Amino acid sequence: MDVRSGLDDDATLERAALDVLDANWTGSATVPAVGRYPHQWSWDSAFVAIGLARRRWSRACAELLSLFAGQWSTGMLPHIVFDRATGESYYPGPSLWRSAACAAAPRRVVTSGLTQPPMQACAVWWIWRYAPDRDEALGFVRRAWPSLIAQHHYLASARDLGGAGLAAIIHPWESGLDDSPAWDAPLAALPLVRYAYALEAWQTDSNHDRYVWLAMRYRDAGYDPGYLRDEHPFAVEDPLFNGIWLSSCMALAELAGAIGADPAPFEEAADRIRAALLGRLWNGAFYARDLRAGSLIPVCTVGGFGPLLDPGMPGQVVDVLVQLLESRFLGPSGYPVPSCEVRALEFDRSTYWRGPSWVNTNWLLWQAAEVHGLDALRSLLAASTLRLVRQAGFRECFDPFDGMGRGCRDFSWSAALTLDLLAR
Ligand code: GLC
Repeated sequence: MDVRSGLDDDATLERAALDVLDANWTGSATVPAVGRYPHQWSWDSAFVAIGLARRRWSRACAELLSLFAGQWSTGMLPHIVFDRATGESYYPGPSLWRSAACAAAPRRVVTSGLTQPPMQACAVWWIWRYAPDRDEALGFVRRAWPSLIAQHHYLASARDLGGAGLAAIIHPWESGLDDSPAWDAPLAALPLVRYAYALEAWQTDSNHDRYVWLAMRYRDAGYDPGYLRDEHPFAVEDPLFNGIWLSSCMALAELAGAIGADPAPFEEAADRIRAALLGRLWNGAFYARDLRAGSLIPVCTVGGFGPLLDPGMPGQVVDVLVQLLESRFLGPSGYPVPSCEVRALEFDRSTYWRGPSWVNTNWLLWQAAEVHGLDALRSLLAASTLRLVRQAGFRECFDPFDGMGRGCRDFSWSAALTLDLLAR
């Protein structure tokens, strides 16, 4: 779907969003966009499941079960579950990751070796909350439970590389905000590498070579947790990844209550993550911490608002964050929320996570506004996000100044989260 007239009508917008999700459904999962992203991506699927929970409940469940089928025995949920029929058309495809050669990877599906922000427990909460039938809802939670517990255990053990209770990302792709300026410094510290692989013109920057180099180093170390801890050159504690993790811990606590399990361990995990976020990443704003350099990365991006998802964030911190959001992200842009603060040298209105506005981060901030009872902010985020999709269609991202659509069309999470915005 491209820019269409008539999307200002809610019923038409809803129909169009469902059409996109139906077209992107492969029979077992939803691809982010036909052509450009022809496999299943982890946090994309969580957003899709959230959007489908009220409209296509069984498909929302199937979406997550397909992702869980890609889980490694370590508990790691991979960021991509490959559709074998599509082969190598997406780079890097299965031949780069070689998951089949790793004993911890599943046998029936091929996957990447990295993870992505752990949104899945939140998605299961949505599915549970909006299920048409309570028994089926509990049945699904029980089925998903072991995967969620294993995922959280993996993050708390194999990924606590800083030893202070936060999960580290070990590749920019794990952040979900792939080319965010927050990763420029840790990437620049890597040796310059060159690979002769099939590139499109837009991929010729050296950061892309470094992405591939990092992935190959981890693969060649056999995806070994000891290597990650002691040798891997990229290790970052990211406020968005950990804010989402905290939010998922709260979701697990509530789901535990529903299935008769003990919520206390999940509440304690949320408390630990909150204390570590404040103790390690807060310096008047939340910044990512480069564990290899031993310092905070001083770039303000939309990821710095991840901890706002936490209902337990102290009021003074919330106030400072909201003020920062209003003055440096919302005020200067006509179509918020830019992915990088507008006055930063690295800001670029047209390049993915270096400036454009995205529906998923807008939706996460909208959630955060709800959590803290910030009604005006909540209304503004909902209205401006719906304005983006009504005017430009379900694009991958949007110019934060003029709202022009960027990246691919008919993008799944833009459609799915529009459904959730419309429903509430
Ligand atoms: C890009 C985005 C990432 C997303 C993926 C599939 O890599 O940066 O967040 O998961 O595309 O949509």
